[in-house]
Amino acid sequence: MARVLLRDLNKHYETFHAVKDVSLEIQDREFVVLVGPSGCGKTTTLRMIAGLEAITSGEILIGDTVVNELPPMDRDIAMVFQNYALYPHMSVRDNMAFGLKMRKFEREEIARRVKIAADILGIESLLHRKPRQLSGGQRQRVALGRAIVRNPQVFLFDEPLSNLDAKLRVQMRVELKKLHERLGTTAVYVTHDQVEAMTLGDRVVVMKDGWVQQVGDPLELYNAPANKFVAGFIGSPGMNFAAVSFQREGDTLLAVNHGLRITVPAPIAARLNGHAGRDATLGIRPEDLHLAGPDDDEGHCFEALVEVIERLGSEILLDVKVGPASMVASVPPTVRTRMRDTIRLALDPERLHFFDAETEVAL
Ligand SMILES: Nc1ncnc2c1ncn2[C@@H]1O[C@H](COP(=O)(O)OP(=O)(O)O)[C@@H](O)[C@H]1O
Ligand SMILES: [Mg+2]
Repeated sequence: MARVLLRDLNKHYETFHAVKDVSLEIQDREFVVLVGPSGCGKTTTLRMIAGLEAITSGEILIGDTVVNELPPMDRDIAMVFQNYALYPHMSVRDNMAFGLKMRKFEREEIARRVKIAADILGIESLLHRKPRQLSGGQRQRVALGRAIVRNPQVFLFDEPLSNLDAKLRVQMRVELKKLHERLGTTAVYVTHDQVEAMTLGDRVVVMKDGWVQQVGDPLELYNAPANKFVAGFIGSPGMNFAAVSFQREGDTLLAVNHGLRITVPAPIAARLNGHAGRDATLGIRPEDLHLAGPDDDEGHCFEALVEVIERLGSEILLDVKVGPASMVASVPPTVRTRMRDTIRLALDPERLHFFDAETEVAL
C-alpha cells in the first residue's frame, strides 16, 4: 500500500490542454474520487497515474518513487475499467490469473490468490465460465477480481459501475465500499456521478475543464462549496440559484431581486462586508426550503408559483418560479398543493450561500 502524489500535473493533447496543474496528495489507504462532467480530464489524470498516458509536465510519485518514466507494468497498480476488458476466449479463472502469469508468479501462488479473490467476490462457482456466460454484474466482479489478485499498492477505477443498471450499481457501490474496508488498498476512483463520489470517497476531488475546483470530504463539499460550480454539481436535486443585489437597511443586509427580499443573517452579512453594492448569486438547496409557517421570519419568506409537482414518495419536489428565477423545493409527502398555486416558501437562513456574480467564487 502506498500514497500517491501528483505535483503540478499537466497534459496537452497537441493544442488541447486537458489536465491543468493538478496537485493532489492521496494518503496511504485513502479512497479518493475524481468527479466532474464528461470531458473534464478525469480519465486522462487516471491514465497518467497508471502510466498509460505520457505526462506533459509535472510529477507523479507512488510511495516515495517518482514514476514518471516507469512503464505501467512496473508501477504496482491495478486498474478496473468501465468496459471490463475481459478476454472473451478465457475462463473467469484464466482472466483473473492472466496478470499474475504475465508476471511469472508460481502456479500455486496464482491458484491461492485466485481462490481468495473469488471467495471475497462470491464468484467461486463461476470460475470455469467464459465472460459471455456472465451477467454484467458478474463480469464487473471478475474485472475486480483480476485487480484484487494482483495485490497492488494502488487501485485505479475508471467508471467501473457505469455499465450496470441502476439497482446493481447501488449494490456494487456498497460492495466496493466493503472491499475497501477489508483490503485497505489506496484507491483512486473516477466517476461523473456525484452520488457515487459522495458515498464512496473519503475525499472527493471535483474537476471542471481540466482544473481541480475543490478537494474535500463529502460533507465539506456539500456544506461549504468553494464556488458556484461545485455548489451546483454536488447534491441532488442541485442547489437553486438566483441573481441578487445587496441593500443595506439600517443594520440589516438584504439580498434582493424581483421576487426576493431576504434578510442575510449577521454572521454571513459580516463575511459579505465589502461586497455590498456588487451583484451576487444567492444559492439555497431544495432541502433547505419549506412551506412558510407562523414561526418563519418574514425576512426569510417569499412567494412562489408552483409549475410542476414531482411526487417521489419520500418527498415531493416542487418546481416553482420566484420572480424570474426557477427553483426546486423539497417538501414532505404530506404537503398538498396544485399546479399554478401561489405558495409561500421559507428558507433556512443558516443554509444560505452567496457567490460572486462574476468570478462565481463563494463569498
Ligand atoms: N487522445 C486524445 N487526443 C485528443 N484529445 C483527447 C484525447 N483523450 C482525451 N482527450 C480530450 O481531453 C479531454 C479530457 O478527456 P478525459 O480525460 O477522457 O475526460 P473525462 O474522463 O473526464 O470524461 C476531453 O476534452 C477529451 O476530448
Ligand atoms: Mg472518462
